[in-house]
Formats: sequence, C-alpha cells, structure tokens
Amino acid sequence: MKIGIIGVGDIGGTIARKLAVAGHEVRVANSRGVDAVRDFAGEIGAIPSDARGAVKSAEAIVLSIPLTALAKLPDDFFDGVPAGVPIIDTSNYYPDLRDLRIAELEAGKVESIWVSEQIGRPIIKAFNNILSESLATKGTGEGARERLAIAVAGDDAESKRIAMEIVKTVGFEPLDTGSLAESWRHQPASPGYCCDYDAETMRKGLTLANEAKRVEAREKIFKRIQSFDRPLMPSDLPALNREYNGVA
Ligand SMILES: NC(=O)c1ccc[n+]([C@@H]2O[C@H](COP(=O)([O-])OP(=O)(O)OC[C@H]3O[C@@H](n4cnc5c(N)ncnc54)[C@H](OP(=O)(O)O)[C@@H]3O)[C@@H](O)[C@H]2O)c1
Repeated sequence: MKIGIIGVGDIGGTIARKLAVAGHEVRVANSRGVDAVRDFAGEIGAIPSDARGAVKSAEAIVLSIPLTALAKLPDDFFDGVPAGVPIIDTSNYYPDLRDLRIAELEAGKVESIWVSEQIGRPIIKAFNNILSESLATKGTGEGARERLAIAVAGDDAESKRIAMEIVKTVGFEPLDTGSLAESWRHQPASPGYCCDYDAETMRKGLTLANEAKRVEAREKIFKRIQSFDRPLMPSDLPALNREYNGVA
C-alpha cells in the first residue's frame, strides 16, 4: 500500500519505520522539505518527500504532528486526496504542557472532531493512546498473549478497517472504539490512555471513562509533570494515569 506519513518524530517516525519494514511504499515528510527527511527515509527504506508529495497518490495518510500544527496546514492541502483515502491522526491536546489552550476544546469539543474541522476532512483517530516508547518496543505478532491494544475511532467503516490493519501491521491489537464523537473516551488522562493495556483492559477503561473526571485528572497530571525537576520518563505517564484515573 502507498502510505504517506506527515511528521517523522517519535510516533510518526516509528510507524513509518515499521510500515516500511513490512513492505509498504512509505513516503515521509516533515515541515522542512524533502532534504530534511532524506537521511531518515534512507535509513528506514522509505521515500523522502515534502508534505504535499507525501499525500499525493497515497492510499492511506498518517498525520503525526502537534495538534496545533494540524490547524495550520494549508486549506487546500487535501484537495487532491480522494474521499476514500483514510486520514489517520495521532494527535492529542496537551494544554499548557505543549499546546496553548484552545477555547473550543476547553468547552468540551471532542479533539478528533476539532481536528476534522481544522483540516476539512473526516479523520480516523488512532495511535493517540500508546506511548512512543511502547509503540517502538512492545509490538508483538498477531495472536501473542498479552498483546497491547491501540484504540481506533472513526465514522467511515472502510477507512477504519484500513487503519486497523495498519495498527495490526505495526504489532498491536486494534480496538474499535466507535465513532469520533465517542473518541473522547481515549483522550489524555482517560482510564484507557497510554497505560499499555491489552484489548480487554482498554475496553474496560473506555467503559469507565467520565469526561469531568478525565479533565480533572489531566489538569493534575500535567501540573505534576510541570513540577518535575527532571525530564519526563516513559514510565511516568502510565504511572500518573493509573494514579489519577486508572482502570480499577
Ligand atoms: N510521543 C508520544 O508518546 C505520543 C503518543 C501518542 C500520540 N502522540 C501525538 O502524536 C503527534 C506526534 O507526536 P510526536 O511525539 O511524534 O512528536 P515529535 O516527536 O515532536 O514529532 C513531530 C513531527 O512533526 C513534524 N512537524 C511539525 N509541524 C509540522 C508541520 N506543520 N508539517 C509537517 N510536519 C510537521 C516535526 O518535524 P519538523 O518540526 O521538523 O517539521 C516532527 O517530524 C502529536 O500530536 C502527539 O500529541 C504522541
């Protein structure tokens, strides 16, 4: 499959590497043009591109850039992309920690719906509730015991099916979490967020999710992280999530 990946940082770069290894034709891009991704593309067996080139003729697109950068993509960015091509977005809203506060999200708009509105296209929300280190190191073969799950939400069945196949290819169990409207259930600080759960436990987390409690937990967790006198470690977020809003 021809897959275009915009953003080759911790998440996008890991997805790109795994999909290239699996034999897909992967085009990678960041915001700085083709030369800026040439070395990385060569290293992982992908095709270096600029952002527009990565989406042109792609059969699936992965957006893995900061949420605020999504809002700044050019208005015509997806104009040549057929409606059936899934646009898979990995983003999360991290107010104060990384992102400026966004009034609509503060008022409770679901993050994936806000992203869809910003880019003018429906998205599939996936890879938002797995930490980059887990994504890079904890994948397994299909059917493995204790295979970790990744939530996948969206309104188009065929686009979601393709996104779920991509999740499987990179070594995780895709968990269909329903529509975009329901995808707040795996936003940051929800019980099913970034805790390295198998599908059954993550499903329990989705069921337990409560929006008011999630927002309260997120504010506490982000304040704790801001007060750290050391860099954030991969184990910190699961520990804090479990402490403030875990699956009992
Ligand atoms: N890190 C995690 O554990 C994790 C887990 C789940 C979800 N996420 C979400 O996944 C997304 C990516 O996270 P990350 O940790 O991989 O970020 P990252 O390591 O900071 O990488 C971001 C990538 O996006 C590129 N980029 C930034 N602005 C861009 C633009 N306007 N156009 C094209 N490319 C652009 C950056 O390259 P240049 O700046 O050089 O262009 C870089 O390659 C975020 O929305 C994050 O919330 C992260």
